[in-house]
Amino acid sequence: MEDKKNLFSAIQPSGILTIGNYLGALRHFRALQDDYNGIFSLADLHTLTVRQDPAVLRKNIYELTALYLACGIDAEKSILFAQSHVSAHTELAWVLNTICYPGELMRMTQYKDKSKKHEDNINMGLMDYPVLMAADILLYQTELVPIGADQKQHLELARDLAIRFNNLYGETFKVPEGYIGKSAARVMSLAEPTRKMSKSDANLNAFISMNDDPDTIIRKFKRAVTDSDNQIIASPEKPGITNLLTIYSAFTNKTIEDAEKEFAGKGYGDFKIAVGEAVAEVIEPIRQEKNRLLANKDYLDDVLKCGAERAERIAYRTLNKVYRKVGLVQRKRG
Ligand code: TYM
Repeated sequence: MEDKKNLFSAIQPSGILTIGNYLGALRHFRALQDDYNGIFSLADLHTLTVRQDPAVLRKNIYELTALYLACGIDAEKSILFAQSHVSAHTELAWVLNTICYPGELMRMTQYKDKSKKHEDNINMGLMDYPVLMAADILLYQTELVPIGADQKQHLELARDLAIRFNNLYGETFKVPEGYIGKSAARVMSLAEPTRKMSKSDANLNAFISMNDDPDTIIRKFKRAVTDSDNQIIASPEKPGITNLLTIYSAFTNKTIEDAEKEFAGKGYGDFKIAVGEAVAEVIEPIRQEKNRLLANKDYLDDVLKCGAERAERIAYRTLNKVYRKVGLVQRKRG
C-alpha cells in the first residue's frame, strides 16, 4: 500500500444497515479513503455475540459487501475484507484479553444495554466484544478510526490496551485516534428520538434502512414522532425535530441554520416530506447499485478474497511482533 497513514473501521453485518450507519460511518469512509490507506472490515465475528440465523447472516454478509462498494469504497485503492477470513484478529484478541480486566468490560454502556436486551443470552463474547474490536484496530497500526458516537467508549478501550501493552512489553502498537463526524454522529430513532437509530430495532418504522425504496422512506418520515409545538427549530427540548433537521442537513449538505430558515413558517407535514425526499435522492442510487452488485456473488467473493490476502500481510506482521514481545517462540517454517 501507499506511503500513507492507515485508517481502519468495521461494520457488523448484523442486519440491513440504516441511514445512521451511513451518516455516522460509511460516508466518512468514502471521503477518507483518498488521504489514508483505508482498511475496511465486515465485523462478522462480532455478530455472533447475539444469536444469528446462519442463513440470514450469510445473506447479510453479501449485502454489506455490496453496500460498501455501492457507497464508493474502492476495493483496489482500499482493502475490504471479512474479519473471520483473517485469523490474526482472534489471535490478537486472546493476547489482549490477558491484559484487560473484567471490570473494564462490565462498565461498557453497550454491554449493559445489550445484556438487558438479550437477557437470555449474556455470553462471554458479548462482554469480550470490545477486546476483539481493539484487536481489529491495533493489528493494522491504525492512525485513525472513523466511527459514530456510540463506539467512542470502545475506541477508548483500544487506546488504553495499546498503551498498556506498550508499557509492559515496549513500543508495539500505534495508539489510534477516533474520527467522529461533526454532524450526524448519533442519528436517533424516528419512533423514539431519545434513543439511537439501530438496525436491530424491532419496530421497522423506527429506522430508515439502506434497503428502503423512496415510497417507504417518505412514508416512514411522515410517521416520524415529532414534538408538540409546530416550530421547525433544533433544540434539546425538541429531539424529534432536531433529529429530522440533522438528517436533512446531512443529506443536503446544508447547515442546520439554513434548514431552519428554509422551513420557517412551514408545517411539520411539508417538512417531513422534504426530509424523506432528500434522503431518498441519495439512498436510491446506492440501493440500486448495491442490488446490481449483489447479483454477482462470484465478484463479491473475489473482492473479499483479495482483501483478506492484503489485510493478512499487514495483520501478521503485527501479530508476529506481539508474539515475539510476549516471549513466544517463533514457529520454524520449511
Ligand atoms: P455497528 O455495526 O453497530 O455500526 C457501524 C458504524 O455505524 C455507526 N452507527 C451510527 N452512527 C450514527 N448514528 C447512529 N444511529 C449509528 N448507529 C451506528 C457506528 O458508530 C459504527 O461506526 N463494534 C462496531 C463494529 C466494529 C468496529 C471495529 C468499528 C468492529 N470492529 C473496529 C471500528 C473499528 C459496531 O458494532 O458498529
